[in-house]
Formats: sequence, C-alpha cells, structure tokens
Amino acid sequence: MEFSIKSGSPEKQRSACVVVGVFEPRRLSPAAEALDKASDGFLSTVLRRGDMEGKLGKTLLIHNPQGAMADRMLLVGCGRERDISDKQYREIIGSAVTRLDETGTMEATCYLTEINVKGRDLHWKVRQTVECSREILYRADSLKTKKDDIRRPLRKLILTVPRRSDLANGERAVREGEAIAEGVSLAKDLGNLPGNICTPAYLAKQAVSQGKKYNKLNVEVLQQAQLEKLGMGAFLSVAKGSREAPHLIVAEYKGGPAKQKPVVLVGKGITFDAGGISIKPAAAMDEMKYDMCGAATVLGALTACCELQLPINLLAVIPTCENLPDGAANKPGDIVTSMSGQTIEILNTDAEGRLILCDALTYVERFSPDVVIDVATLTGACVIALGRHASGVLGNHHPLVHDLLSAGKSSGDRAWELPLWDEYQDQLKSNFADIPNIGGREGGTITAACFLSRFTKKYHWAHMDIAGTAWVSGEKKGATGRPVPLLTQYLIDRCESQQQTRSSKGKATRGKK
Ligand code: BES
Ligand code: MN
Ligand code: ZN
Repeated sequence: MEFSIKSGSPEKQRSACVVVGVFEPRRLSPAAEALDKASDGFLSTVLRRGDMEGKLGKTLLIHNPQGAMADRMLLVGCGRERDISDKQYREIIGSAVTRLDETGTMEATCYLTEINVKGRDLHWKVRQTVECSREILYRADSLKTKKDDIRRPLRKLILTVPRRSDLANGERAVREGEAIAEGVSLAKDLGNLPGNICTPAYLAKQAVSQGKKYNKLNVEVLQQAQLEKLGMGAFLSVAKGSREAPHLIVAEYKGGPAKQKPVVLVGKGITFDAGGISIKPAAAMDEMKYDMCGAATVLGALTACCELQLPINLLAVIPTCENLPDGAANKPGDIVTSMSGQTIEILNTDAEGRLILCDALTYVERFSPDVVIDVATLTGACVIALGRHASGVLGNHHPLVHDLLSAGKSSGDRAWELPLWDEYQDQLKSNFADIPNIGGREGGTITAACFLSRFTKKYHWAHMDIAGTAWVSGEKKGATGRPVPLLTQYLIDRCESQQQTRSSKGKATRGKK
C-alpha cells in the first residue's frame, strides 16, 4: 500500500475515485460542496433522494459522477460535524478504506483530511489515515493455504492537503505513519505466530535479519553459556523448564552522537507461557503465545526508528525463552540468585516475566542508559485494573512517565499511570530469600512493578504493562502492535525537544558573540 500527498480541488482530480465526507443530516463537506457546485447540484440531488444521511460509517459509491473528472466518487458518512473525536475519525477512515478495498478501484484521492477533529491538526489526521488504512488492510494469513485475496485491492491512497504550503508537513506525516505502520505490522506478525514457530531462536533470527536490513543497526544474540557467565540465574531458571534454548537479544541502533546516552527498551520475550509447574488453566491458554508481545513491540519500535533514521541512540534488549512445566523446571519455593546478586524465592512459577526481565534490567546498566523502558505482558491484574484500552505505566522518574503518557495521548495509543508508592513494597517479603516473586492478590500490577523496581535503582526507568492492550481476544483475535505507536512517538518527541534545546543553545551563543 502506497501513500502520497497532493493539493488541488476535488472536481479536477483524474482519479479512479475521489473520497469526500458527508455530515449528518445530509450536509456536504467543503470538498463535497465543491463537487456539487461543479455539477450543478448533482450531490445535493443524491442527498435529497435520501440515499445518504451522513451517518457515521455509512458509505455510498457513485460511478461516473457528473461534473467530476474521476471515475467514481465515494461519499463517506462522518456523523455530526461538531466535535468529531479521535475514535470517530478512525471509524470514518476505517469505513472508507474498507469500502475502497472491496470496490474495483485500486487508487483513490481522499479529501477526508479536511474534516475537523477536536484538538487535532493536519499532521495528526494524515498520520492517522496512514496508520488506520494499514490497520484495516492487515491480514494474519501467512499460515493459511487459501487466502481470501481481493481481486482488485486498494494499492494507492492519495491524501490531499488544503494548501501547497501544507505539502511538506503532510509528507512528513506520511513518512511517520508508514514507519509506525511498518513497526506495528512486524509486531503483529511476530505476535500472531504460534509458539511452535515463533520460538526464542526465531525471535533472535528476526532481530538479526533486521540488523542486516538497516546499516545503523547492530544486533548481537547472547547464548546460554554467556548468560551463565553473566550470572543471570533468574532468567536461566525460567528457561530450564523448556527444550528451547534461551537467548538475550541485544540490538543497538546508533543514530545519535557517539557520546549520547541511549534510550533502552527492554521487552519480555516469553514465546509461550504455560505457567510452568504453577500451570495455567486450559481455557484460552493458546493466547499465551502472545506473551512475547513486549519483545515484538520493542522490535517494532526499533524498526520504526530505523525507518525514520531518528537522530538518537536506541538499544533494544530482549530476554527470550519459554515457560513450561518439566522435570527441570522451577518449582514453587525454589530460590535463585539474580544477576544483581539478590536472591529470589519463586513462590509462583507463573510469575516468570519479572524473573527474565530483572536480569535484563541489571544487564543494561553497562550501557549507562539515559532512560530504560521495559514493555511486558506482565500481569492479568492489569487487564482487571485498566481493561483493554490503556496500557499500564509505572516508573521511578516522573518526567519519563509523563513523557510516555503524553506520547500515548498524541499518538492515540493511550496509557495510564498506576502508583508505585513505597507502601506497596511491603507486600514483597520472603522468609527465606531477599525477595519473593509475587506480592499477593491485591494490586498485582503494582507489586510486579515493585519487584522490577528493585533492579532499576541505578537509572531512570518506566515499566509498561501491556497485558490488556497487546492483543484482542474473541472473534477478532489478533495482536494489536501496541504500544509501537506510543513508543515511536516518544522517540520522535525526544528528537524534537533535543533539536529545540540545541537550536536555542545555538541562538544563545550566537547572541553572545
Ligand atoms: N503472561 C502472564 C500475564 C498475563 C496473563 C497476561 C493473562 C495477559 C493475560 C504472566 O506471566 C502471569 O502469568 N502473571 C501472573 C502473575 C501472578 C502469578 C502473580 C498473573 O497475572 O496471573
Ligand atoms: Mn506467567
Ligand atoms: Zn507470562
């Protein structure tokens, strides 16, 4: 799918299809108005006959429209014009792209970017259009022998901007949207693959192939013997219960000055979580193939960063293994020594994510990170607390948490903070080791973060619990690629504020001279 930016009036577009909005009740958008004028009221007549009310999500396709140079015209219902929300705008784009894909048109020129969305600018609308279109057209059919291919699929979408002076802004938005969609799509593909194919070795191979694709990206994979040398007793204890060898993926993107401290992303890469000896119930256990979505989204954000060639140093670290029951697996009550030296009493082998993450979090100290963000499908409790609309965020550095929340708001991939107060730390007490791996039933997401916080004291850190957002269950079961948009937005925002400080510093020194 290809996107481009253009400016110009709708009646003059030589296109397979022009796409314009209609508001409720039967009100023409500016582009529809222009087409109406050019055709002596053709569209007004269509509306008067009652074929299009403008209801959100409804569409009407017209062939050989009068007064226009396009072969077709797609009217898209936008609902009431006032206060169109992010969600409504995504629905508008979704219905338009779904219809276009089912229609014979392979290319279309879209005027929906002119619709006012509350609190959002042109850049946002263009980027959302790209992301939404790619979302609609995504298929997880790599393992189906019969694919339900559309004979004439939508191949090209031309997005219009009001003025020539908006072209550059629009093109930047397309580039960002495409990079994010690329990252989301990688994260979905990896997430949707079953545990027997997407193994720890497979994840490592994918990371290595990304490293070959981008020249600023260097990927190294640490093997079991090296992990033993590093003393990663917590990580290795989880891997012991499986026939698949564990790997630690270390991917370094160098887009910034050599001295600049890196942003570090750590992703939970449990390629299947059966719970171990504390085995999970059978219902919906297949969904535990998604327990590597933290890893997948870290690779997705890394990909988006490479695509955009951001001027930043980014490090992605992924501990990956399986969590299965086996004669060699962890048993409840076992005590292991983490890389940090702290001993851990494993009271529940199903709380394995924190065991692999804690060693990765200790390992990244050696890179003197500016900030560390870990991303993990860590607790079922997070789904109970926040449902499936927001990722959970907790951290030891308020500005970092704030930046993540605000990247979530602007990208439309939202997150919500949970408290990481000292009081909760009291739930982590063990009679026999330094720390237990569970903190009781109450506040499960918070005590999981408390556990991680014992390993992140040396740097600014935030934790994202994506148990509720990484995939959807039910009829539309599938990975979402979240929070790739949030993480990429965070990186873009950082680069922008970096540049601002640099240019204002430049001005200050120039002023002094
Ligand atoms: N991967 C799961 C968390 C999970 C469960 C995510 C269901 C999404 C849906 C994690 O490893 C886990 O099993 N956590 C336990 C922790 C508990 C034993 C303290 C949980 O949430 O039940
Ligand atoms: Mn588990
Ligand atoms: Zn898990």
